[in-house]
Amino acid sequence: MTDKPVEVLTEAEARAELARLAQAIAAANTAYHTLDAPEISDAEYDALKRRNAAIEARFPALKRPDSPTDQVGATVAEGFGKVAHRVRMLSLENAFTPEEVAEFDDRVRKFLGHRGALDYTAEPKIDGLSLSLRYEDGVLVQAATRGDGEVGENVTENARTIADIPQRLTGAPVVLEVRGEVYMSHADFAALNERQSATGDRTFANPRNAAAGSLRQLDASITASRPLRFFAYAWGEVSAPLSTTQLGAIARLNELGFQTNPLTVLCDGPEAMLAHYRRIEAQRATLGYDIDGVVYKVNDLALQQRLGFRSSTPRWAIAHKFPAELAWTELLGIDIQVGRTGALSPVARLRPVTVGGVVVSNATLHNEDYIAGRDSRGQPIRGGKDIRVGDWVQVYRAGDVIPKVADVDLARRKSDAQPFVFPDVCPECGSPAHREPGDSVRRCTGGLICPAQAVERLKHFVSRNAFDIEGLGAKQIEMFFNDPILPVRSPADIFTLAERDAANPLQKLRNRDGFGEVSAAKLFAAIEARRRIRLDRLIFALGIRHIGETSSGLLARHFGTWEALVQAIDAARDCSGPDWEALTAIDGIGEVSARALVDALHPDSPERAEVDRLVGMLTVLPVAAAATDSPVAGKTVVFTGTLERMTRAEAKARAEALGAKVAGSVSAKTDLVVAGPGAGSKAKDAERLGIEIIDEDAWLRLIGG
Ligand code: IVH
Repeated sequence: MTDKPVEVLTEAEARAELARLAQAIAAANTAYHTLDAPEISDAEYDALKRRNAAIEARFPALKRPDSPTDQVGATVAEGFGKVAHRVRMLSLENAFTPEEVAEFDDRVRKFLGHRGALDYTAEPKIDGLSLSLRYEDGVLVQAATRGDGEVGENVTENARTIADIPQRLTGAPVVLEVRGEVYMSHADFAALNERQSATGDRTFANPRNAAAGSLRQLDASITASRPLRFFAYAWGEVSAPLSTTQLGAIARLNELGFQTNPLTVLCDGPEAMLAHYRRIEAQRATLGYDIDGVVYKVNDLALQQRLGFRSSTPRWAIAHKFPAELAWTELLGIDIQVGRTGALSPVARLRPVTVGGVVVSNATLHNEDYIAGRDSRGQPIRGGKDIRVGDWVQVYRAGDVIPKVADVDLARRKSDAQPFVFPDVCPECGSPAHREPGDSVRRCTGGLICPAQAVERLKHFVSRNAFDIEGLGAKQIEMFFNDPILPVRSPADIFTLAERDAANPLQKLRNRDGFGEVSAAKLFAAIEARRRIRLDRLIFALGIRHIGETSSGLLARHFGTWEALVQAIDAARDCSGPDWEALTAIDGIGEVSARALVDALHPDSPERAEVDRLVGMLTVLPVAAAATDSPVAGKTVVFTGTLERMTRAEAKARAEALGAKVAGSVSAKTDLVVAGPGAGSKAKDAERLGIEIIDEDAWLRLIGG
């Protein structure tokens, strides 16, 4: 892209640049909306859109039929049904300065021929993804993403799993489409990423991507396991007006049971709007969720009606965006950190710089491809520019998320700057670091001989959903790992701590800095208490790649005891034959997890010897195997439509406890469909396939209440 000012572009240059911009914006849209993996920052994206609009304003005749100005978001992803929105889902025009907000107010009053001041609502602009919920006769019948504004994706089953979204409304208009934003809180986002990396699954770049990735799952049970939330702030088709004002309509949605944003206020003009903007901006860091600006809307709905729409934005609203949290600084070095599963993560060491009020001296560089200027498919990012030590780089922060390096200034690159060579050996243990085909991550092959992996695994071992040993957290693990007197190098060492301390007459733990009689005794007691551990927790604690909490639970329920699990792994160790097939046939355990399990616990490996030593010191509590004598044991059940006597999550949990498998869609493998009111295509599919369909009452009778 040239950086020539728009005023001096020739017509030919403008035409060529509009074509390039259309392509770049379309690619960014696809990366963001369809792949949930943005490749450029919001600020860069906004800059592209603004330049495109500026060129079009100067050369209106050159505006392309596929102009990005007329488009909202992305095209529909494959895999979901399509939903044509009865009322289009629009985007918002952006303002970046107080002057632009004042101009907005002027434009509105001029359009209406309104002399006096006008009332506007002001509310946070939630950084999530928009969703339209259709209720008919008070029953949620459909949920759709925005898509391109005209046609979205049908994510009804997924939306039903979100606690903030009521399944039923009392006293609502016969037809009501509620619109709002699905988002994830900072705390939930951090916990989700922690779980994802514990299982070797992909982590998300920010809460918005996590929310989008979680909502757009083909398997609704995955969405159900993700902590999504929803704020209602608008509506689509309604059979009767909600109110005469924006504020009244939001209050009505709140009465109907929706979460509405508590920072929504009424303002009597630009001054009050800007004051509220500053108030919200000041609270931004402590809200607990990401927002990227403030939205102002004309309060009087009759006036909104008169103002109407432009091609893709309403005339009666504007988004006042926060300035991007960006800064340029020098890249002093690139360090490689090694994680629990051996992943080598490059970290930028920066000359400290303030970004959005926070001093930043480290930022993530993702992986070696990112440094080299390529995405995971080998396509150029940042125009193919690589990142070198000594470069001036642009750093950005989105909410609470780890800062990132977004761009590099080639004009300031020193002539002797060398491309960064990503190590192919682990910097911590010297073992080879390999990249599997299709994986953008390079991993250390050192296993437990790698101290970095060993420490991270120990931290995972004691973490909350694993052994959860009080007084033994990440900090203490770091301390004990390098301790000359009471070293803890493996999980088994934790359970010999007290014994080793007792045997050492001179340097007792209780006499050390940071410990005393009471705290040392407490720590030993907490460790002692965890010698009895449930099988599923033990499996999870081992931190085997691809074996997260869900898989650990499945394995525990399937095998019941540690001995049975180990026996099955030993029998399947060659990854072929009937025992291997039996292992991979366990519901929810695919080839990838089974292979990881066999690799990690192979009977001949030193790691297995370590695990055996550990288990020898524990009492592993068996987990009750799934019932096999219930009438639905082994059956595949699909729930569809509205359940009236229990939530879907509850229905699923009960069915699974009775040994049934709950699937999200009907196929030839389905044994039974439980259909409530509003059941749609799934019930039809079942009919077509000749599968038994029963209602909720019959289901309850079948499972005995
Ligand atoms: S009103 C017709 N209010 O921002 C106007 N949008 O950039 C409909 N958004 O597509 C939108 N918070 O996804 C509105 N308080 C809020 C919002 C909000 C976030 C999103 C929404 C919209 C996008 C436009």
